[in-house]
Amino acid sequence: MAVEAEKWVHMVTAQTPTNIAVIKYWGKRDETLILPVNDSISVTLDPDHLCTITTVAVSPSFDRDRMWLNGKEISLSSGRFQSCLREIRSRASDVEDKENGIKIAKKDWEKLHLHIASYNNFPTAAGLASSAAGLACLVFSLAKLMNVKEDQSKLSAIARQGSGSACRSLYGGFVKWIMGKDEDGRDSLAVQLADEKHWDDLVIIVAVVSSRQKETSSTTGMRETVETSLLLKHRAKEIVPKRILKMEEAIKNRDFTSFAQLTCADSNQFHAVCLDTSPPIFYMNDTSHRIISIVEKWNRSEGTPQVAYTFDAGPNAVMIARDRKAATLLLQRLLFYFPPNSDTDLNNYILGDKSILQDAGLEGIKDVEGLPPPPEIKDGIPSQKNKGDVSYFICTRPGRGPVLLSNKNQALLNPENGLPK
Ligand code: DP6
Repeated sequence: MAVEAEKWVHMVTAQTPTNIAVIKYWGKRDETLILPVNDSISVTLDPDHLCTITTVAVSPSFDRDRMWLNGKEISLSSGRFQSCLREIRSRASDVEDKENGIKIAKKDWEKLHLHIASYNNFPTAAGLASSAAGLACLVFSLAKLMNVKEDQSKLSAIARQGSGSACRSLYGGFVKWIMGKDEDGRDSLAVQLADEKHWDDLVIIVAVVSSRQKETSSTTGMRETVETSLLLKHRAKEIVPKRILKMEEAIKNRDFTSFAQLTCADSNQFHAVCLDTSPPIFYMNDTSHRIISIVEKWNRSEGTPQVAYTFDAGPNAVMIARDRKAATLLLQRLLFYFPPNSDTDLNNYILGDKSILQDAGLEGIKDVEGLPPPPEIKDGIPSQKNKGDVSYFICTRPGRGPVLLSNKNQALLNPENGLPK
């Protein structure tokens, strides 16, 4: 260190996206290293709409490692945080910040303590994959702070030890987590299949479904599945390897029909595997099921899929529309079936890219109330509306991978004392 007595604070801030799996990761062959029983593939979501921002700081004045999540101090004692911190620290290099006269030698990193502040730009309680973006952001920002020279794939293998799905958030676009074979997990890492510009027709709509039920965490759920489900063994051995190849092909060729069929089938099989667990795990609820039948009915009436749906370990639906036109028609259908309460501002009901509302000709609640029933509803079958079953929708698209934020105003820690702003 330059001068021990100096109370400098050196920090970096990064932004990392979340991701949604279209071929699911479910089940570990090694719980500590977080090694999966099958490959998985995901789409990275636009960080402008869903992301984690993390500031990491180092200073000789810090007496211990500390972390704040959405402004509240949390413990760093979990094995998963500790694995990520240990792995990153062991790869740290010399750092020199000429502008501020700070020099940190490689060997000093073992003694120096860190302050970490992390913030999600979407409600954590919404049950969206906040841990994926969070752990990926932690690893990415620490690697930048400590001048870790490893490439993004190697970093993904570290993020994987924080939360499996986090390894796929180290890249934008379309990402594959290769399960690997090595016992030490070094070959279990993420690779980018295509960047976000490769298939930029796709539009993604997330339905944040109101839920009262406390869900089984992914970690606990998949442990119980591995212990009790025979269907999981069949899925991991026979089904997923073939599906991965087909999905890679569909992404490469921008073949939406195959992409949608594979995405829906894999989501449904993941939830079937949850039901095959003892005791059974229910992540989807009645609203989730209703969304599936709305999309299935519409896709069938069109003859080719317009929208794919997928659900993680919770009731929220992630719908991927083939293009903007399909997304507009989807939003009209969703708002027809799940209108907001009359006193809700449409602006608070549709988050993210609100421009789809204009395309759909929906300027206010009156327009939503005037939406006609979708034509695929057969005459005589009453179309039940479900006000209040969806908390809100987020309109987004495939997005970029992690980036450093150089604007000092975006830092979450105070540059003077390294405490949350
Ligand atoms: C259903 O990555 O949250 O979202 O590795 O135990 O932290 P841990 O689990 P996590 O599991 C995600 C499961 C999933 C499917 C997926 O993202 O592939």
